[in-house]
Amino acid sequence: MKPKLVIGNWKMNKSFEEADDLIIEISEAIEGLTLQTGVVLCPPYLYLELTTDHAEENEFSAGAQNCSEFENGAFTGEISAEMISEIGVEFCLVGHSERRKYFAESNQTIAKKVDQLLKFGIIPVVCCGEQLEDRKNGNHFQVVETQIKESIFHLNNEQFESVVIAYEPVWAIGTGENATPAQAEEMHQFIRQLIEKKYGTEAAYSCYILYGGSCNAQNALELFTQQNVDGGLIGGASLKAKEFVDIIEAAETVLKDN
Ligand code: PGA
Repeated sequence: MKPKLVIGNWKMNKSFEEADDLIIEISEAIEGLTLQTGVVLCPPYLYLELTTDHAEENEFSAGAQNCSEFENGAFTGEISAEMISEIGVEFCLVGHSERRKYFAESNQTIAKKVDQLLKFGIIPVVCCGEQLEDRKNGNHFQVVETQIKESIFHLNNEQFESVVIAYEPVWAIGTGENATPAQAEEMHQFIRQLIEKKYGTEAAYSCYILYGGSCNAQNALELFTQQNVDGGLIGGASLKAKEFVDIIEAAETVLKDN
C-alpha cells in the first residue's frame, strides 16, 4: 500500500487570525511525527501565502481551492494558476461540486483549469461525484465516468502522472452521511479501472484516488483501509486541528498495518 494523502478543504471559512492559529496548531501537532502521509491545507486564497510560509518549515503543503481557466488578461476577480504557483502553492482543487453547482463549472471548464495548473507545475486535485438522484437511479458510475473522461482524459501519460482524483459523492458532502467504506471502495475501484484502460496498469496503480464527503476522525480509519482509497479530501473536519490530525493519524495507522 502506498502512503496516503490527506487534504483539508477549508472552503470559505476562518478569519485571518483563526487561519493562523489553525495552521500553527496543526504544525505543532504533526511536528516530529515523521509522517509518511502527505498533508495539504487548502485555505481561502488570502491565506495561501501564510500557509506557504509555514509549509516551508513543516510537514505539509499548501493547496488552492480554485484557479482561473484563463492564463491572464481581462478577467476581473480571477486568480491564475501562474499566480498561485509563484507563491509556492503545490496543489489546487478543481471541479469541486460546490463550484459545479454555484459557479456553473462544466467538465470542459474543469479540463481547461487542469491544463493551466499542469502548465505551471501545480498538481490538480480533480473532484468528481454523483448526486443522490444519480445513485438512486443507478447512474452513479456513468456520471463519474463522464466527469473523469471529459475533464482529464485529454491528458497524455506524462501529464496524467501529476493528477490526483477525489471522489466526493455530492450527497455525502457536509451532510454527516458518508459513503460506506464498501460504496467508496466500489467507486474507487471503478475509477482505477477506467484509468487502467486509458493509461495502463502502472499509471492506474500510482494515481491517488481520494475519498471526500463527511470523512471524519471516526470513519477515516475504515475508509482508508479500503484497498483503493488512497486518502481523503476533508471539509468540515479539517477546520478543527485535533480532528484533522486524528484523520492524519488514521492514515498513518493504515499504512503501518499493511
Ligand atoms: P465535508 O466536505 O468533509 O465537510 O463533507 C468535503 C469536501 O467538500 O471536500
